[in-house]
Amino acid sequence: MNYNEAMRRALELAWRGWGRVYPNPMVGAVVLAGGEPVSEGYHAEFGGPHAEADALAAAGERARGGTMVVSLEPCTHQGKQPPCTDLIVKSGLREVVIALPDPNPEAGGGATRLRAAGLTVETNVLLEEAARQNAIFLHRFADPSRPYVALKLATSLDNKIADRHGRSRWISGEEARSFVHWLRAGFEAIGIGGHTARVDDAQLTVRGPVEPRVRPLRVVFDPQAELPESLQLVRSAREIPTLVLASSQASTSRIGTLERAGVQVERAGTLTTAMSLLRARGVTSMLVEGGGRLAASLLNDGLVDRFYWIQSPLWLGEAGVPAFAGRMGRSMAEAERWPVVERRALGEDTLLVLDRR
Ligand SMILES: NC(=O)c1ccc[n+]([C@@H]2O[C@H](COP(=O)([O-])OP(=O)(O)OC[C@H]3O[C@@H](n4cnc5c(N)ncnc54)[C@H](OP(=O)(O)O)[C@@H]3O)[C@@H](O)[C@H]2O)c1
Repeated sequence: MNYNEAMRRALELAWRGWGRVYPNPMVGAVVLAGGEPVSEGYHAEFGGPHAEADALAAAGERARGGTMVVSLEPCTHQGKQPPCTDLIVKSGLREVVIALPDPNPEAGGGATRLRAAGLTVETNVLLEEAARQNAIFLHRFADPSRPYVALKLATSLDNKIADRHGRSRWISGEEARSFVHWLRAGFEAIGIGGHTARVDDAQLTVRGPVEPRVRPLRVVFDPQAELPESLQLVRSAREIPTLVLASSQASTSRIGTLERAGVQVERAGTLTTAMSLLRARGVTSMLVEGGGRLAASLLNDGLVDRFYWIQSPLWLGEAGVPAFAGRMGRSMAEAERWPVVERRALGEDTLLVLDRR
């Protein structure tokens, strides 16, 4: 197994921490001896053993003289767990191969410390893949002004998100819907537009293969605070945290009604203010699930970092609800081109994941 292959395996293992380790990063590790894998590990739970400790415990004496291939720079600090650099030095490993440097000022510097202890250290192996996997974690340090925002939409072939009656159930098939539940588990908040909340009456809960460590906050962008109390979101607000982001014009009595139902309400004049308000509340990632007007406004304001686009093989026609109503026009020369970072089939549907440059 070469280092790239071992790193691919480490990245695969790291995904097992999705929804369970945040705000920590997802990390996977493989120990090689004589080019052969002898053990593997990953960070499974927030506060639990790091990937390096997990892999070293499984390797035991076989780690001596070997190589660890790990998707994030080993930490140097005593947190809920001891510093991984100390464990690595004690284990007798000879070499460490790292994908991503640790941006956390408290934990970073692992590569330097390992080199100082006499180990050979290689960095930046499959760096881009690792950075994409931990985009939320990296964003937390790179941009303290707002959460990392991912947009997810399911569209028809003609880019509609609902039929002419506003019905969107179901554009995509079961596999895509199960993927969305997996996706939700890795975000601290799930956002929707007020119109979508009223039309879809969705629960916005996670009902998929991963039970999130912390239930995501449900966020509704509803300027007039007009959500009816009959909606599932409002009726369950005492059990599942739910926040309405209203404008300064929203009536105090509407806000009072929602608050009495257990909904938290904040006033935010613009989407940018709404985002900084969320970040100030400690929300570092949000998955926005439409609708089209909210999606377009977020894109217009440069507030989307990643787009999960589920394309479904049906036509809804001109009268359907557009995916990006109000998206500003751009000339060919000015148009943003987003790199596709993943493309895969979800049953009959196609998932495209695109990152803003
Ligand atoms: N296929 C899918 O993936 C998918 C996903 C979600 C929804 N849908 C469908 O999409 C339809 C709803 O979409 P939609 O485009 O009509 O509405 P929408 O995007 O859900 O709603 C726009 C809402 O966001 C509010 N908002 C707050 N700040 C805003 C801002 N800066 N810019 C724009 N809106 C802002 C708007 O308030 P004001 O009205 O007060 O301006 C409005 O309540 C439904 O039929 C739903 O079933 C489909």
